Amino acid sequence: MDGKENRWIRIAGDISEIHFGDNNMAVVIAGGKEICVGKMQDALFAFASRCPHAGGLLHEGCITGSGEVICPVHGYKFNIRNGYNVSGEGYYLRHWAVAVKPEGIFVCIEE
Ligand code: FES
Repeated sequence: MDGKENRWIRIAGDISEIHFGDNNMAVVIAGGKEICVGKMQDALFAFASRCPHAGGLLHEGCITGSGEVICPVHGYKFNIRNGYNVSGEGYYLRHWAVAVKPEGIFVCIEE
């Protein structure tokens, strides 16, 4: 055990409370951390707000129709579902599970 635990954190009461840009991405606070939430085909995905390559702001990038988050700085691509770097540079984008429940939208963050 490394002492870390997963905790479900409520980020919004419902999807209308998340302010998505035209690129279907938003920045929210979860457990004191700034993270990105992306919307694709009415599903929500949570991932790090900063690119693992050189810290680009991912919410200023875009999501492709096939579910790749493209960093606006150098164009590296990450699978929105599992964080894998699909453009081949070997980086990994942290991501977290999202649950949409009647009582709100939750992200499972490791603390
Ligand atoms: S900072 Fe994101 S690809 Fe370089």
